[in-house]
Formats: sequence, structure tokens, C-alpha cells
Amino acid sequence: MCGIVAYIGKKKAYPIILEGLKRLEYRGYDSAGIALLNGKMEVLKKKGKVSELEKHASENLKNFDYTMGIGHTRWATHGIPNDVNAHPHVSNSGDIAIIHNGIIENYDSIKKALVERGHTFHSETDTEVLAHLIEEIQRTEKQPLEESVRLALKKCIGAYAIVVMDKNNPEKLVGAKLSSPLVLGIGEDEFFLASDASPIIKYTNRVIYLNDGEIVTINRNKGYSIKNLSNETQNPEVSQLDLKLDEIEKGGYDHFMLKEIFQQPVTVAESMKGRINSQEGWAILGGMKPNIARIAKSKRIVLTACGTSWHSAMIGEYLLEDLARIPTEVEYASEFRYRNPVIKENDFIVALSQSGETADTLAAIKMAKNKGAYVYGIVNVIGSSIARETDSGSYIHAGPEIGVASTKAFTSQSTILALMALYLGHHKGLIEETYFRKLLAELESVPTKIARILAKDDHIKYIAGEIRNASNALYLGRGYNFPVALEGALKLKEISYIHAEGYPAAEMKHGPIALIDMYMPVIVLATNKSAYEKVVSNIQEVKARKGIVIAIVTEGDEIIKEIADFIIEIPEIEEPLTPLLSVIPLQLLAYHIAVMRGCHVDQPRNLAKSVTVE
Ligand code: G6P
Repeated sequence: MCGIVAYIGKKKAYPIILEGLKRLEYRGYDSAGIALLNGKMEVLKKKGKVSELEKHASENLKNFDYTMGIGHTRWATHGIPNDVNAHPHVSNSGDIAIIHNGIIENYDSIKKALVERGHTFHSETDTEVLAHLIEEIQRTEKQPLEESVRLALKKCIGAYAIVVMDKNNPEKLVGAKLSSPLVLGIGEDEFFLASDASPIIKYTNRVIYLNDGEIVTINRNKGYSIKNLSNETQNPEVSQLDLKLDEIEKGGYDHFMLKEIFQQPVTVAESMKGRINSQEGWAILGGMKPNIARIAKSKRIVLTACGTSWHSAMIGEYLLEDLARIPTEVEYASEFRYRNPVIKENDFIVALSQSGETADTLAAIKMAKNKGAYVYGIVNVIGSSIARETDSGSYIHAGPEIGVASTKAFTSQSTILALMALYLGHHKGLIEETYFRKLLAELESVPTKIARILAKDDHIKYIAGEIRNASNALYLGRGYNFPVALEGALKLKEISYIHAEGYPAAEMKHGPIALIDMYMPVIVLATNKSAYEKVVSNIQEVKARKGIVIAIVTEGDEIIKEIADFIIEIPEIEEPLTPLLSVIPLQLLAYHIAVMRGCHVDQPRNLAKSVTVE
């Protein structure tokens, strides 16, 4: 939610920052801006995507020789997306420029006090108060820039990752972090600050992930120093980035989302690597191993997450209850954290997050930890806040996911949850050995089976063409396929803006059936062995009301073929692993419909990939 990038060094700052903003655009894309310093401060801001800023800069930037600067791509919280509310924001004198990701919750009271002291504000944002406050402290208390930033931040409540640039300190950049991510890149005679490592990787693989409450001061020639809000010097570890440039590029695909859908045979295999062996008959998650006895005795598992991660958590509920026989609940992180839940010492709390930065999920685990629970993370982004905040965890190893609509993270999270359920169930002696080994072998076969579904892309695209003009869509599934129905509906509404709902198939007759007519596509997940006849009846009910049925069926299904308007076959698999396959055609269907409707697939309107506000 908002991307920030800053550069100081010997190279031209503008192209580095612009390219960095394009890489961070997944975090927000309603407006963008840049400030460059070279004796004079140049600030350019534009409503719209980074490409609008680029166009504006090519027409208005007189020279490109600046060797330091800051840039921002915004997802609006305070104030509509327009040129004025876009970042950077500047101080009263215009000497200090700031970019910010997060929310200053007490900005209103700070602003009122500043206005009383003669400050004039131009934007509706919370961020602008920080620029004014820093400058006021700098001038009235005669403090250096970094100390003025520290003192200003001590007056703020909320979340932030900021970078501050000062015309009167042309050798310095100051960054700070609390609850929003900030990475320092350390190159040869150059430094970078960014919301994630993607703008940095081209230049250096040496980074420091700043911790909450840390302030970094970069001096062009003298290096960097880090202090905390209490003014104590910190000595954080320098990490080596294990990220390759081609992982964050489209690699010949039209969209990141399509690339990520097609990567799934590889990413699911990566999630399993070293964690399963059907020949030897084991499934293990290293993060659980030291505590497996304690976890296996848990009275309850609570899975908490947001968005697509919440849907994979639901699959986890089915898996963990089915295979490990531990009562499991799924909680929206935003509800869990605010409703004073009962959390006991022998509860096992699992947080799922692709980005590892989702504010509500992060707050939920902090709350659970405060109540004494053991918290486990299932996270994609290495070194992210949730990964660091949890007691232990498993990375899903899906690689960077850039398309805003999550696809490969979902299948990788579900893979880890399947491994978790198998590991726990086997440890507890609840799964009969032959069935256990069968499930392991089936899980190992998932990548090949996903590839077989991806090979049907043309057929799925054809079906997309047939229903592209729908205004509504209904997704139905039972059992393991119910969370997949929710996820399929979410994919469609996120990127094509068609209103879609997911329902347990049997619930259709309690309401949604009233919506069905000849214009309503109903996507039915009909692969279940259990309750197969019941799903067939649900399809008949839709057809009796002239709905258009697109059925996801198991290869060789002859019955549904006769009733449905369209079928998409997926390979046979043991029922607990079905979601790993049945979601694939739904991802492709949503993708093609969105493309056909001319939607911006990778950056859907109003959304952001990393939601760092509550
Ligand atoms: C945003 C994204 C979704 C994502 C959700 C949770 O809404 O657009 O794709 O599922 O956040 O994100 P997380 O990173 O915690 O999985």
C-alpha cells in the first residue's frame, strides 16, 4: 500500500527511481511523484499511474543530472487521488520533501497546532504534517535533520515508512520505519531505500531490512548509521538478497498474473521441496519440527488471514480437521484482532500472508502473542514483518508475486497447509499408512497435474469469451471445493469487476437461486467423489432455471457433460488435494474475461497488493 523508493549516489537518480516506482506499482497506483535534489529541489507529481508521471517528467524536467531523489506511488487513504495529494509533500518553506507509506493517525491534532503556529497546508493528506513538523523542529530547536525526524516521529501515532530529503542537507537522506516495510540497499558508493527489494536488486544484493522504530541516516560519502526512536545506535545485520531480476519481470507473458498462473507447476513443487518424500513415507515442516509434540497436543488451531490468504486458510480448516483431527477455526484477521477473542495457551495460531505485511494480520498475531499463544507464519516474502513477528513458520517459496490478484501464493499456501495436516495427522498416528503414502504421492503429482490443466488454456479462453458480458456470476462448491468457489468468485470480481459470489452448493436454494436466469453464468465445482450426486442435482436446479452452467469436472465424467453448457476437465486426485487443481481453471477464466473486457489485469482499480493500512 504505497510504494516508496529513494536513491543517493553518483548515478543519475531519475531513471533509477522511475524504474523502481514501476516495480513497486503493485503497491498502489492512483498517483505518483518524485522529488530530485541538486542545489535546487524539483518536485513532480501526477494523478494516475507511474507512466503518467513519466510523461509529465519528459515534458517538464529540464535536466536529468540529479544524483539524489525520492519517489512514491500512492494508494489513497487521506484525500482523493489527484496531483496535489500525490507524494512527495513539502514543508512550509519547500525545503524538506517527504514520501510516506502508512497512516499518521493523530495527524489532525498535529495539523491544527501547526496551522495555529502559522503553517499553510496544501493537501488533504496525513503525510504533509510530517514535512511541516520536521522543519519546525529543525528550525526552532536547531537540530540536525535526522534528530528532527526522530523528534517529529516521537509525536506521531500510526504506521510509517518514510524517506526525508532536505535542500539544506544535500548529502543526506533520512528514512524511518514503523509497521510499514523499508529496506536499505547498500551499493558501491550508492544507497537505496525502498518498500521492498525489487528496485534495489539490479544494483546490489546487500540489504538491511529495517526494524520497527529504526531511523537510518545515509550520508553520500560517509555511509549509513541506524538509531532507534530512543536515540540508541543499532547494528543490524546486512542480508544477502536471494532474488533474481528475471523473477520480477514478465518474461514474455502479457501480464504478471498470467506468468504467475503458468508458474504454478514450478512454484507448488518449490513449496514441497525437501518437505515430503512419498517413497520414504514422510512429510515434515522444519518450522514445526522442534515443537511438533506441543503443536500436536493443541486443543485448537486458529488460522487467521485476509483476502485470498483467508480462502487458503479455509482449505486449511478442512484439511486439519479431516487429517489431523484438531478443531480448527478460520478468522478474518481484522475481526479476530478487535473482538477480544478467547485465546488459550494450548491454542496454535497460524497466520497466512503472501506479502507478510498485511496490517490486520500483523496486528492479529501481535495480539495473539500478547495473550500467550504460539504463533506460526505461512508467508511468501522472505524477511517480511509477519515472518519476523511469528514464533516460527514456513516460507511458501512461491517467488515474487506481482499481479495484484493472488494466484500462485494461494496454491503454495494450500500446499503448505496440506503438508501441515499430513505431518500432524501422521505424527498423531491418525492416518492409516497406505492412505498416508497415497496422499503423499498424490501431493507430489500436483505439479504435473496442474501443467495438464494449463494445457487447456485455449478451451478455457473460449468459455471466457462466451460469458464475458455477464453482469453477475455465481460460484458453487461443496466440501473442499467450497473455499475454491469463494476464491474463484473473488478472482473474477477483483480483475473483471463482474459481481460474483461464492456459495456452498447446497445453500444456493436458500437465496442465490432467485438470481438465476438465462444471463447468469454459474460455475460449479463438481469434482467431489463424496456428494457427487448432490452436486449433479444442484446443476439440474440451475439448468431448470435456464442458468448457464460451466462445470469443473473430473476427467472422464460423462454425466455432467450431458447437462452442463460447458465443462472443464481436471485430473483425478484424492479429495483433500482437490483445491490445488480445481482453482486453476477459475484463475484462467477470470484472467481471460478481464482481458476481454479491457481491464487492467495486473493493477485492478482501487486495489493494492500489500495492504499496510487497517
Ligand atoms: C490484498 C491483495 C490480495 C491479498 C490480500 C491479503 O487485498 O490484493 O490479493 O490476498 O491483500 O494479502 P496477504 O499479503 O496478507 O496475503
